[in-house]
Amino acid sequence: MRLKIAAGNWKMNKDYQEGLELVSEIVQKSKPATGTLVILATPYIHLKDAINIAKTTSHVKIAAQNCHQAKNGAYTGETSIGMLSSIGVEYVLIGHSERRQYFRESNELLAEKVKAALSENITPIFCCGESLEIRNEGWHVRYVKNQLKKSLFDLSEEDFKKIIIAYEPIWAIGTGVTASAQQAQEIHKEIREAIAEKYGNIIAENTTVLYGGSVKPANAEELFSQKDVDGGLVGGASLKAETFLPIIEALPTTHS
Ligand code: PGA
Repeated sequence: MRLKIAAGNWKMNKDYQEGLELVSEIVQKSKPATGTLVILATPYIHLKDAINIAKTTSHVKIAAQNCHQAKNGAYTGETSIGMLSSIGVEYVLIGHSERRQYFRESNELLAEKVKAALSENITPIFCCGESLEIRNEGWHVRYVKNQLKKSLFDLSEEDFKKIIIAYEPIWAIGTGVTASAQQAQEIHKEIREAIAEKYGNIIAENTTVLYGGSVKPANAEELFSQKDVDGGLVGGASLKAETFLPIIEALPTTHS
């Protein structure tokens, strides 16, 4: 049975007070359902207090949005995975398209970040996805598989099992344009097949693959009901309880 997840990615939004208020509201109002998890990827400033608030439940977890690949050193402005671990962070987003685009993060660098996270027992939520140009040219499946291959497929079976994948087509992020449920299912199936080819069917069947890109209350249920879509990574709609709570409720609790 794969874990179903509604993950919120706040990006660079919410000041300290606003952020903690939202964490509290989500903790209080979301209902724990068997086999599901809520993850909130907050800015660094919220992490420690958000973890303390989330500790009162078992179904809400807190994630960082990035980490540095080195253990420590002269990297002004960066945060290491050991630092995140020292305050109890359990999840980290790695390879979000905004990091790839604005901070030039390559597949090779992301492979290092994934390994750094695993070395501290922090679960990477590894993001992949193609631009509109690549999709229009028809090689999006190859492109996404290559992202997985370059950043993840050197991992041992033991380590790969700990990974959560988020497929996020860049053309759907923050644009209001969502991939159709069929488009999402099609590529999620390809992702699962690529994992099966590398690590075998059992691991592929147990890997949680989230969809991200303009997930909202109106489309969450249809997207999440697809066989290979195990929940969502949600940006804009995760910034308000009134839009994020219905997305959490749209998670399927029965199908495997
Ligand atoms: P969006 O962002 O839901 O606002 O499209 C998704 C993401 O970037 O993770």
